[in-house]
Amino acid sequence: TKTIKNICCIGAGYVGGPTMAVIAQKCPEIKVHVVDINESRVAAWNDPNVEHIPIYEPGLSEIVAETRDRNLFFSTKVDEAIDQADIIFISVNTPTKTYGIGKGMAADLKFIELCARQIARVAKTDKIIVEKSTLPVRTAEALKDILHNTGNGVNFQILSNPEFLAEGTAIDDLLDPDRILIGGDTHTAEGQAAMQTLVDVYAHWVPKAQILTTNVWSSELSKLTANAFLAQRISSINAMSEICEKTGANVDEVARAIGMDSRIGSKFLKSSVGFGGSCFQKDILNLVYISKSLGLQEVADYWEQVIILNDHQKLRFAKNIVKTLYNTVSGKQIAMLGWAFKKDTNDTRESAAIYVSDYLLSEQADVIVYDPKVKTEQIYADLEYLGHHDSETIRQRVKVVKTAKEACQNAHAIAVMTEWDEFKSLDWKSIYDDMYKPAFVFDGRRILDQTSMEALGFNVNIIGN
Ligand code: NAI
Repeated sequence: TKTIKNICCIGAGYVGGPTMAVIAQKCPEIKVHVVDINESRVAAWNDPNVEHIPIYEPGLSEIVAETRDRNLFFSTKVDEAIDQADIIFISVNTPTKTYGIGKGMAADLKFIELCARQIARVAKTDKIIVEKSTLPVRTAEALKDILHNTGNGVNFQILSNPEFLAEGTAIDDLLDPDRILIGGDTHTAEGQAAMQTLVDVYAHWVPKAQILTTNVWSSELSKLTANAFLAQRISSINAMSEICEKTGANVDEVARAIGMDSRIGSKFLKSSVGFGGSCFQKDILNLVYISKSLGLQEVADYWEQVIILNDHQKLRFAKNIVKTLYNTVSGKQIAMLGWAFKKDTNDTRESAAIYVSDYLLSEQADVIVYDPKVKTEQIYADLEYLGHHDSETIRQRVKVVKTAKEACQNAHAIAVMTEWDEFKSLDWKSIYDDMYKPAFVFDGRRILDQTSMEALGFNVNIIGN
């Protein structure tokens, strides 16, 4: 196989940035060039103060500090990076389509196709193209069509190498992955050689037994399958949380009891206000769309229910706040603790906090937000994006503050939206003293202890209790 000197990654986002930083750290002899068309994002990656990089992940800034301008480079010079690269990772966003056929369901592949066309135009030497983005099964076929019909005689091998990292633990997941999956053209010598080349990159730090190779379609479908199964577990336990609330069962006790069954396993059984993040919903909708396109209506309905349950969980949490506060929150102050979709990330995409706040705004509540990592402008942008309230109303009714204590001052209720560790050790006594009475707390993450919070005087609502 070929000795790799240059890797290019198109897309400097939550996947491209951390993944390439780790490759650069583990493969010091390879030059890794991450390119993006978003100039301000690239500028932030290059910020002399490494704490200002655009993505917060524990351990990421240290690796960037070590590798940046050594063998890790960020720029907007997409053509140049493509031209020099032996391997090109495509790590651009693949959001749900917001228009046309498949609107609200199918993955929008326009960014992927633009990358393919740009590669086809620029490449003068043979390249290995790696699908890092999560893509519908058989996308590699479309990429191949585009790349092979441009007539400059360059040979492209297309691999699928989906990313399984979870935000919040991205660096640990990348350094010590459960497995690396590489799909390729297993029937040809060129395909096998390309797969081996990518295996060799990962083998710098991942044990060979954990590097799986499959055909391209299995690899593409495995990523959608993994996300569907993970999200399904959350919706399953959340469905039980509602039964628990009505019957006196406790969802953590149920989760523990079933989790000790080795066939079920104990992970990913934490009930909450619903999953967020850019991937689960988008990837399941995509799976539903693919199933429908294949004429598999029952399969589509089965997976769609995971989303329906998740939307229900967010909505019933919001409705419960209004109902518990005597059916009106108009003019009342509700403190939102946490805005990110989970702890240890600054990513807010599809965060439950957005939907719950949007609902509370419709009920004319004043919303006070505190999150340790999310920027104020992001919070306003998230609410504006939903389009239910105008920018002026949002800026009037939503305030963003710098501490949890401040958010809770003069509040009628607190909603715990993200499981940030610092929320577990707040001075709840003094928070209680500063609130309107009765002081309500709604824990959407099950981080608070019902008995001790009640002992302080709070009226406590924990999802799944
Ligand atoms: P992101 O939105 O954070 O980053 C994508 C970047 O690609 C953006 O900065 C955008 O400006 C850039 N881009 C788009 N078109 C471009 C072009 N033609 N040329 C250069 N740059 C371009 O997205 P994220 O979260 O990194 O996700 C990327 C892919 O990885 C998606 O398909 C996603 O489903 C998948 N994925 C995401 C995970 C996550 O935890 N966020 C985990 C595993 C997979």
